Amino acid sequence: MEPIASLVKVSIPNYLSGLPIPNTIGGWFRLGVRDWLSLVPPTALLAGLGYMSYCTFCPEATKSIKVVVNRKIKKDLPKVVDFIDVEDLTEKAVFCRCWKSKNWPYCDGAHAAHNNETCDNVGPLIITKKQ
Ligand code: FES
Repeated sequence: MEPIASLVKVSIPNYLSGLPIPNTIGGWFRLGVRDWLSLVPPTALLAGLGYMSYCTFCPEATKSIKVVVNRKIKKDLPKVVDFIDVEDLTEKAVFCRCWKSKNWPYCDGAHAAHNNETCDNVGPLIITKKQ
C-alpha cells in the first residue's frame, strides 16, 4: 500500500505542480515548445479517460456507425434470401459470405481482393456432401 500512497500523495501532485500551466489565457501563447511537449502526456491521458467514459456511458453513440455490407446484390429486394436444396448439391458447394461475388450466392473468389484491400479475413462457406 505504501507505493500507491506515495504515488497518490507525493509523485502525482509533484508531477502536476511541475506542469507549465499558465495562470492567464495569454500565458498559453507564451509557452515554449518544451512546455507544450510536457503537456502532451497528461492531455493524452485525460483525452483517453474522457473517451473511455464517453464509450461507457454513451455506448449507442459508438454503435451509430452504419456499414452497408451488401452494396450490389439484389438491391431491389428488401431482404436477400436464397434457398438451395441440399439434395441438388453435387459433391461440393462454395457459398459467398463477403457479398462481393458476381455469381451470388456462390463464391467467385472476389473475397480475396476484398481482403487485400481492407485487411479483412472473410471467406466462403463450403458445404460438402458425404460420399
Ligand atoms: S466471393 Fe464472397 S466469399 Fe468468396
